[in-house]
Amino acid sequence: METSFYRETWADINLDAVADNVADMKKRIPEETALMAVVKANGYGHGALQVARTALANGAEWLAVAIFDEALALRKNGIEAPILVLSPIRPEDAGLAAKYHISLTVFQKEWISMARKADRNEEPVFLHIACDTGMGRIGIRNDKEAEALVEEIGKDRRFVVEGLFTHFATADQDDEAYFNEQYNRFETMIDWIHDLGIHPPVIHCGNSAATLKYPAEGRHLFNMVRYGIAMYGLSPSTEMANKLPFPLKRALSLHSRLVNVKKVEAGSAIGYGATYRAESEEWIGTVPIGYADGWLRALSGSDVLIGGERCRIVGRICMDQFMCRLPHEFPLGTEVTLIGKNGGEEITADGLAQKLQTINYEITCMIHPRVPRVFWKDGKKTGTVNPVLISNMQQ
Ligand SMILES: Cc1ncc(COP(=O)(O)O)c(C=O)c1O
Repeated sequence: METSFYRETWADINLDAVADNVADMKKRIPEETALMAVVKANGYGHGALQVARTALANGAEWLAVAIFDEALALRKNGIEAPILVLSPIRPEDAGLAAKYHISLTVFQKEWISMARKADRNEEPVFLHIACDTGMGRIGIRNDKEAEALVEEIGKDRRFVVEGLFTHFATADQDDEAYFNEQYNRFETMIDWIHDLGIHPPVIHCGNSAATLKYPAEGRHLFNMVRYGIAMYGLSPSTEMANKLPFPLKRALSLHSRLVNVKKVEAGSAIGYGATYRAESEEWIGTVPIGYADGWLRALSGSDVLIGGERCRIVGRICMDQFMCRLPHEFPLGTEVTLIGKNGGEEITADGLAQKLQTINYEITCMIHPRVPRVFWKDGKKTGTVNPVLISNMQQ
């Protein structure tokens, strides 16, 4: 596999941070509780395969993804651990899921009926029943739906109910009222399923927020937790950031280099629309990352770090480049930190999220695949992934 890259912009992924975040969580949850590492959306932008391997080597037993293609990609890259697809897949693909032993999320009797009729062999299809306890997204919502689903599942012995789960809408918030409502509803739904004669071996509901909060308070999170954002070193919400039970280690930093440095005269225009004019004679640097890399135009006017100093992005961010105002001349090739530490300064995904009025999840996910990921383990570079080059080579 081609692993080099040919641009001056990259994301460093610290797999030691992921390893520590997993190991610390494993220490916190009861021994009999399994940890499912959530690696959907290319591991929240960090690299699904590398994060999956790291998580599994440090105590995770399961993996979760959002879409079937992500699960297949992990299998095709040699991952043998159990994988759950958290969103519904097409019923006609149930046979392929069985072939690769990929567990599926179900909640509609119609889906079961279509999957039953779809072409497949004798291999079992492993199912996790989703319960909508108040997220309002997917899942059975009442006992009639539970009954109809279980009845349909019972028509084909190749369907194996392996799990039962729900997802919380407000676990990261200080106010616990709605969380408690959802939790209580989940307990009722578990009873419905048990009463229908189904006893799924794996029951799970805890996302990062619930799992960080509750084991210490004795809240029972059943026998598996789904660990996403905190595994990447980020707090599930700003409300939780100062109350974490152990320090989370941020895994992703984003870097580039100055590819042009020039002194411009007072009044010089910078960028599309000529929206910025130099106030006096100014040093301007050009950085080769733009909105096509996920460095959104809305970040125009925010800071990057160069030589330990905050430098303002001036003018509009272009598709592949932006310009920033420098306090003085810097040599060409000087490193620019977009996320991470540089000298005594730091730019965090949380800070960027605040600027963009979003959440840290969206910041790491928005870093486009054409930004190469460089992986670090035991303090050493272990590999690079450049999806642009790989896809070109496969044509
Ligand atoms: C169903 C489900 N479980 C678990 C997670 C992981 O959540 P978090 O990243 O907050 O830990 C997600 C993420 O959105 C999810 O959709």
